[in-house]
Amino acid sequence: MLKKVFSLPIIQDERGALLALENNKEIPFESKRVYFLFNLKADLPRGFHAHKELIQLMVCIKGSCTVKLDDGEKSEYVYLNKPIEALLIDKMVWHEMENFSEDCIIMVLASDYYDENDYIRNYQTFLGGLK
Ligand code: TYD
Repeated sequence: MLKKVFSLPIIQDERGALLALENNKEIPFESKRVYFLFNLKADLPRGFHAHKELIQLMVCIKGSCTVKLDDGEKSEYVYLNKPIEALLIDKMVWHEMENFSEDCIIMVLASDYYDENDYIRNYQTFLGGLK
């Protein structure tokens, strides 16, 4: 199963909602980086890469989007539209994000610092790198 979606605990009271994520707990790894995607365009998909080692946890904290996951053998689509749902994107999983709502904000927690050398941006190279 490529699609690894986890429920996140929300602390809700009359003042609103609070979401807390801790390393090695709700985040199933040691997070070294967080980045956000916003001001996205419905017709401009992103991603189109895999990572050699990086593991990422993606949360659509506002709006909605669709993530395509591909391990070289099969592909699955995941629709994200809740801040209480996290998608784990493992290493060596080709991923594409698309179908963004206008208000979409995506938060991504990553297991390492940004390193362009960890990216595989060519799909044929990705397939060739799979054991
Ligand atoms: P990229 O990962 O290609 O975006 P996406 O997968 O969403 O299409 O990154 C876009 C640009 O931003 C690219 O030049 C690399 C840079 N970048 C950083 O500098 N730091 C980061 O943490 C990330 C994720 C990207």
